[in-house]
Amino acid sequence: MHNDVEKTLLSEAQIQARIEELAGEMNALYSDDDAPMLVCILKGAFLFLADLVRHLEFRHEVNFMVVSSYGSSTKSSGIVRILLDLESNIKGRHVMIVEDIVDTGHTLDYILRNLSTRHPASLRVATLLNKPSRREVQVPVDFVGFEIPDEFVMGYGLDYAEFYRNLRYIGVLKPEVYQR
Ligand code: IMP
Repeated sequence: MHNDVEKTLLSEAQIQARIEELAGEMNALYSDDDAPMLVCILKGAFLFLADLVRHLEFRHEVNFMVVSSYGSSTKSSGIVRILLDLESNIKGRHVMIVEDIVDTGHTLDYILRNLSTRHPASLRVATLLNKPSRREVQVPVDFVGFEIPDEFVMGYGLDYAEFYRNLRYIGVLKPEVYQR
């Protein structure tokens, strides 16, 4: 089943260690009184959220949004749609978006602009992965797990054509798979 993986980019141990560090930074920033709402962007961030919240020591809520970008399976088009919106009001709340990867930045830019109009008390962003070399829109990111090179990756929540989300590591897709 791992036939499409060229190599491991980040091992399970590396990912878990970094998530613990990120949670430590968040524990220093937020208090119980802040009670932030973590907004997990589905589907890619589901494992990151699940592992992250188990290290958080402040009171918080979790919420989910499903967004989709039109385009081929390895490229985002810049057109973003909200398929499932938040179930609760974020006005006056501290909000932290939890993303899998920031690539061109279009998806996050759209989400940030959309959530800002709802007047949260603060709006921060945590992303497990960042591909800065691919950026087309500048977006603020407060917590970054790993900066990665311009390669298509999958595993640990991220998919290639909806598969491989269950891998415990993050792997690079064989280029011949998407050049097919
Ligand atoms: P952006 O709008 O180009 O920043 O892309 C954001 C979304 O594209 C992410 O939330 C992912 O769902 C997807 N994406 C971007 N790069 C990759 C990748 O290397 N592997 C898997 N999904 C990716």
